[in-house]
Amino acid sequence: MISRTNQPEVGSHVAAVYDAMQAEYDQLEEQFYFASCYQVYRECVRRIASARPSGLALDLGCGTGKQTILLAQRAGRIIGIDISERMIEAARKRCEARPNVGFVTGDITRLPFEDGCAQAILAYGDVIGHNFTAVDVVLREMVRVCASRGLISFEVDSKWCPDLLYLPKELWRAMTTRGGHLREWKGMQFKTFTWRELRDLLHAHGLRLVEVRSMNILTMLIPPSLLFRRREEAPRFDAFFRKVMKLDLALGKLLRCGSTRIVTVERP
Ligand SMILES: C[S@@+](CC[C@H](N)C(=O)[O-])C[C@H]1O[C@@H](n2cnc3c(N)ncnc32)[C@H](O)[C@@H]1O
Repeated sequence: MISRTNQPEVGSHVAAVYDAMQAEYDQLEEQFYFASCYQVYRECVRRIASARPSGLALDLGCGTGKQTILLAQRAGRIIGIDISERMIEAARKRCEARPNVGFVTGDITRLPFEDGCAQAILAYGDVIGHNFTAVDVVLREMVRVCASRGLISFEVDSKWCPDLLYLPKELWRAMTTRGGHLREWKGMQFKTFTWRELRDLLHAHGLRLVEVRSMNILTMLIPPSLLFRRREEAPRFDAFFRKVMKLDLALGKLLRCGSTRIVTVERP
């Protein structure tokens, strides 16, 4: 199990990178890869919102509030928390017409909420992976603030992702690392997980698995130079991508491979 080390340094680096990226952050969804992710996020948030339609919901690492505003369609109160002040400012703006939404700037390794207060907790977009020195701490905090029979839904990157075929150095690192290795994005590291690691983590925290949703399975066979382009820059490829994405959305309900997984669990 991963113990807590260097978390303040990791947290302040992550905050600085997202502060600097905030103005362009929402445009990521225009890239093929992220279009697919956000489609799955939307579907998962809707399911969580209808499964736990009232009470408090927390959006951890809420970023610019893309999932927070969807959660706001529930009857209960929603609180988004993020370590980046600029991301929180953007999220506040997005949700300003929603009276049931509030935001806090803070660190998810020390959640400023009471034990057992939340019916639903989300953490989408590598929020856990970014805190690779404190995975166990984050899980413990999520379990602490979750009510009995509450749902926790989080996204984590898979270790064995098809795009490793294009990344021989990283493939070697993955092969020589026990458990999940670290990937890099925009100068930040984030941790990947094997299914066994995840299963052990859920078991250690006494969580009951409800659903696993994989995303970007076949799409990861597309070379990164194309996959991370904006859709409008490659309109002819877009039609093909939509078909592959449709297939991935169906496969993701059955298979546990792909670039990332959304894991939904219940606290008994
Ligand atoms: C990839 S973004 C995802 C944002 C949003 N959930 C989405 O899907 O658009 C990851 C977010 O997690 C936040 N984050 C990472 N580590 C955090 C921590 N320890 N405490 C609070 N927020 C954190 C970052 O600041 C960033 O806004």
